[in-house]
Amino acid sequence: MNDQQLLDLIGQMTREDKIAQLLQLTGAFYEGFHDKELLTGPMEELGVNEAMVNASGSALNLSGARTITEVQQTYLKKNRLGIPLLFMADVVHGFKTIFPIPLAIGCSWNLPLAEKSAEIAARESAVSGIHVTFAPMVDLVRDPRWGRVMESTGEDPHLNSLFARAFVRGYQGDDLKGDKERLASCVKHFAAYGAPEGGREYNTVDMSERNLREYYLPAYKAAIEEGCALVMASFNTVDGIPASGNEKLMRGILRGEWGYDGVVISDWASIREMIAHGVCEDDREAALKAIRAGIDIEMMTPCYVHHLPELLAGGEVDEKLIDEAVLRILQLKEKLGLFENPLRGADPEREREVILCDDHREAAYELAAESCVLLKNNGSLPLSPNAKVALVGPYAESNDILGWWSCAGDKEDAVSLAAALRERMDSSRLTTAGCGIESISSSERDAMFAAASDADVLVVAFGEDVAMSGEGASRTNLQLPKAQLELLQQLAATGKPIAVVLFNGRPLDLTGVFEEADAVLEAWFPGVEGGAAIADLLLGRVNPSGRLSMSFPHSVGQVPVHYNKFNTGRPLTPGHEDERYISKYIDSPNEPLLPFGFGLSYTEFEYGELEISGAKLSRNESLTVQVKVTNTGLRSGIETVQLYIRDLAGEVVRPLRELKDFVRLALKPGETGTAIFTLTEQQLRYHHSDLSFTSDSGAFRVYVGSNSRDTREAGFQLVP
Ligand code: BGC
Repeated sequence: MNDQQLLDLIGQMTREDKIAQLLQLTGAFYEGFHDKELLTGPMEELGVNEAMVNASGSALNLSGARTITEVQQTYLKKNRLGIPLLFMADVVHGFKTIFPIPLAIGCSWNLPLAEKSAEIAARESAVSGIHVTFAPMVDLVRDPRWGRVMESTGEDPHLNSLFARAFVRGYQGDDLKGDKERLASCVKHFAAYGAPEGGREYNTVDMSERNLREYYLPAYKAAIEEGCALVMASFNTVDGIPASGNEKLMRGILRGEWGYDGVVISDWASIREMIAHGVCEDDREAALKAIRAGIDIEMMTPCYVHHLPELLAGGEVDEKLIDEAVLRILQLKEKLGLFENPLRGADPEREREVILCDDHREAAYELAAESCVLLKNNGSLPLSPNAKVALVGPYAESNDILGWWSCAGDKEDAVSLAAALRERMDSSRLTTAGCGIESISSSERDAMFAAASDADVLVVAFGEDVAMSGEGASRTNLQLPKAQLELLQQLAATGKPIAVVLFNGRPLDLTGVFEEADAVLEAWFPGVEGGAAIADLLLGRVNPSGRLSMSFPHSVGQVPVHYNKFNTGRPLTPGHEDERYISKYIDSPNEPLLPFGFGLSYTEFEYGELEISGAKLSRNESLTVQVKVTNTGLRSGIETVQLYIRDLAGEVVRPLRELKDFVRLALKPGETGTAIFTLTEQQLRYHHSDLSFTSDSGAFRVYVGSNSRDTREAGFQLVP
């Protein structure tokens, strides 16, 4: 259907029909999913009636080809105009084939693989009847107290933007209508949800508009430029106004400046939550503010269906606003081909064929292997081929390693580290013993020490419980549970080498771990093939290549700590730690324990001199920056060569370093590769005090290296 036909269809709709299109409910409300009696409970609770449900525009978090087919068919029988229902779900890091959590994917710096993971997630969900995924989440994160850092690719606007594009391409492909095994993608949470005060979930976000535009908005914008079909509003306030009622954000920036004309959906109950925020007196006012701001779909509250009719009748809301919102929703249905084929990709046979198929598992394995970050190694990894290994700790035998937001994932499908090591090692060389996450019983302790007594090396699999990160899981303490820290001390007393493997959803405070352990491998929540990938990394069959996309603080007191910080007027320079009136802590370094971009390998990479093609960059030309990198070790490996810049004298203060580019070099032992970068004036632009996005002529530094701290540098001038 073209727009005119859609408008004709809108012409046939009653006001109630139109307003119902703006309502989104969970699957539980629909017949065909549950029987009638089960429906009355939630309907009464929410105050919606059958007519509203029967005309509602979309449903969330329902899946399964058979279920969705039944719900769609039942729904269509009752829908006077035959407008199909849209099915949306949180397919965040895989549908059933669960990939590592997004923060881990961020650490892979592997964009093609990230894209592939989204394509696979799309395929599995689409054949299960889903049309839209509430992903990617691209909120920039600097505060690991916030549990949802696990859903983001990290602290850098450039890297996040690249991942945002890769995910959108992977979910949507380039022909959403023709390719039934893709999904429409909904970027979230617009905007700046990743900066809640104190890291406390749903808390106030307050920052300058310049800061917002410079760091927080680019990744959403990148997703939209890539053609992302939907945007989800965030729960938080932006400059005092909740996103769901924020006209400046939604109509001003998103639709006005960026020209976005797709669907905007609220977050779960976020329209009604404007009452608790204290900007609306009641549902009626919440509906008014949200529709004026440009929120098309209301998720899980009935403010629109209850109050838009009277707001229209009273002239407070122009019918045009409703018609526009309905048109966008119908355009999305059309884009997905639902008018011709309301069942779209839903196909029980394809479900059996593709879900968790070997190819999908293989991709999950590759991404898990590339997402793990080797944080420390004094030589005890990889495990030596003849060593007797004791694998102990809460994640030794656990298959609960999928992480939060694992959609239809089932931990029974996940490979535990113990199972994977058993497959790869002679049984005489491996003993395993598990324990609880927060407490360890004496029998568990005994079993672990018995395993350890006979071993040459201890692999200790530690971590946070899955529920300690994700939505609603902010922490003020970033350490591992106390029982694990005590256990580590006791194990260290055996004097045997210890390699710690970490399963967690956020950068941790590793006090008590980093000093005690001989090696530390950050595995995050690695997904269905996690155990296999980690086993291969531990055994040296795969060389670690992940790089942190979020800094690891020394302590929670340093938070937020991120690499792209400003210098201050009294910066701390090495050797001046004892001076008082400088910007520092008296009880902690300023720098994080492990900086952005950091990650070790089993081989060594040596950097040559940094070469820059000129001392001046003019506005229509470019400079080439290059460096030779040699693998001087004994194993093949991947080096992620990172390029950062610094504007030495901006109109406003500029970060000490900003990532502008990177290349991943795969090098064999003895091999030399060249990382070649092109620098142009565009990369030097930033938001000035008047919010203009331009560059300053003058002196710049360029840094190239293996992380944001260890770099070589050169300088150039941007000339007018
Ligand atoms: C989350 C969103 C999610 C939505 C639907 C909300 O609580 O903030 O990220 O997409 O629920 O499940």
